[in-house]
Amino acid sequence: MPLTRKHRIIIGSIVAILACILAIGITIGVVAGRRKSTPLTIQEQVNQILANNPLIDGHNDWAWLIRANFQNRINDLDLFNMTQYQLKNTTPSHTDITRLRKGQVGGQFWSIYTGCEHQGKDATVSFMEQIDVMKRLIAKHPDIFQMATTANEVRQAFSSKHIASLFGIEGGQAIESSFSILRLFYQMGVRYMTLTHNCNTPWADQNKVDHNDSVLIKNNGLTEFGKRVIAEMNRLGMLVDLSHVARKTMLDVFNITRSPVIFSHSSAYTVCNHTRNVQDDILELVKINQGIVMVTFVPGFIVCSDTNRGTIDDVAAHINHIRNIVGIEGVGLGADYDGIQKTPVGLEDVSKFPKLIEYLLSQGNWTHDDIIKLIGGNILRVMEKNEQIAQELQKTMKPEENLISINELEIYNLTQCRNLDMYPTIVTNATS
Ligand SMILES: *[C@@H]1O[C@H](CO)[C@@H](O)[C@H](O)[C@H]1NC(C)=O
Ligand SMILES: *[C@@H]1O[C@H](CO)[C@@H](O)[C@H](O)[C@H]1NC(C)=O
Ligand SMILES: *[C@@H]1O[C@H](CO)[C@@H](O)[C@H](O)[C@H]1NC(C)=O
Ligand SMILES: *[C@@H]1O[C@H](CO)[C@@H](O)[C@H](O)[C@H]1NC(C)=O
Ligand SMILES: *[C@@H]1O[C@H](CO)[C@@H](O)[C@H](O)[C@H]1NC(C)=O
Ligand SMILES: *[C@@H]1O[C@H](CO)[C@@H](O)[C@H](O)[C@H]1NC(C)=O
Ligand SMILES: [Zn+2]
Repeated sequence: MPLTRKHRIIIGSIVAILACILAIGITIGVVAGRRKSTPLTIQEQVNQILANNPLIDGHNDWAWLIRANFQNRINDLDLFNMTQYQLKNTTPSHTDITRLRKGQVGGQFWSIYTGCEHQGKDATVSFMEQIDVMKRLIAKHPDIFQMATTANEVRQAFSSKHIASLFGIEGGQAIESSFSILRLFYQMGVRYMTLTHNCNTPWADQNKVDHNDSVLIKNNGLTEFGKRVIAEMNRLGMLVDLSHVARKTMLDVFNITRSPVIFSHSSAYTVCNHTRNVQDDILELVKINQGIVMVTFVPGFIVCSDTNRGTIDDVAAHINHIRNIVGIEGVGLGADYDGIQKTPVGLEDVSKFPKLIEYLLSQGNWTHDDIIKLIGGNILRVMEKNEQIAQELQKTMKPEENLISINELEIYNLTQCRNLDMYPTIVTNATS
């Protein structure tokens, strides 16, 4: 059928419209394509990484700062801005909600800590007070913080735009040599325990016994009771933290642990020879154990100096050294904000984590996948492994019921504040 003029006009119009649509489509496509192929700046790359993957820091002492300065009173404390307060113990404050958000912190192990002077007195009480204050802090801002006790809970909290909040006990003195207390801490949500702080427990040696001139009583690493503590932590799925402990304690743990361990806040001894840092042969053991060293920003451990604060560059040197020995799977971040007086230049508070990542990306030998492992992927892997092994162990192991011996407590003068009713050979005041 021959086309009429009318038909030709209609078809012509349709073709013209289609051509227009095609042209617009191509233009949009080209523009979008161009936008896509424009390389992101390093800062944009960092933002993209942190928006999609949780940055999880291994150690932050905000709870301790709140105890030391505010006696754990948080009801009237402005947690969005801690810089407005005059502090006596740490100057200035490193942590508040505003700066956590600016630093795009996705998860935080909140350190539960009180000093060694509580040992044998109110260590357990004071550690529980610190758990309580952090639980109240989380509850006060449920839109910001969410408690997490497993790797999956961390991911869930992060995907709902919360800061996943985890607890780690800093110092085995918290459990007062009692497996009951260890288990109860687990139930309260604690997911790592640093075996010692800067004092021995009756069952584990701290780093200062490694000082050449040290005159401290020594356990020679872990005692038999200490080995049972590691076994029970493995059974529970509580991560063993080797920051602060003596070299021999580390060696003993590597010999018996069933699960990967962590160093929640330690750096590299070869870069700065402080006994709080990790020596190269220990790093080789971390690799075999599939554990992780979370690099700390403490200037004294970064640049081995009381006067020089160090820089991002110095922190990166520790990260690179540990990565080069343990591998990319075995390195993380554990700054120790609010636990220290000074910070490296450029890493002044929790808002500065992105600057460190920017620095590493600019070195050219850190891929996005490497960064994702460093900032949180690795610690999540270690948590997951501990969770799996705990499930396996619970099939055959029963909860530990042994008591520490009275002799072991007496060496450290730790019997005075106890009624020794659980020790049948000791005559206690009978109730009648
Ligand atoms: C926090 O408070 C201080 C002192 O009042 C003020 O200078 C600063 O701007 C505040 N910071 C924020 C983020 O509001
Ligand atoms: C400890 O120091 C003394 C000298 O003060 C030295 O002879 C000894 O070798 C040192 N020991 C170690 C383990 O470094
Ligand atoms: C490791 O443990 C085994 C037994 O559990 C023991 O025989 C061995 O001496 C330990 N090795 C070290 C280096 O402590
Ligand atoms: C640590 O390093 C400093 C400076 O490099 C050196 O003077 C000191 O002797 C070293 N200490 C140990 C225990 O190796
Ligand atoms: C990456 O490159 C920097 C600068 O060349 C170097 O110092 C660092 O050790 C390298 N990192 C690793 C993990 O090799
Ligand atoms: C225990 O007390 C005695 C006597 O006061 C003291 O000499 C000793 O150093 C103390 N031991 C410890 C580990 O504190
Ligand atoms: Zn510490």
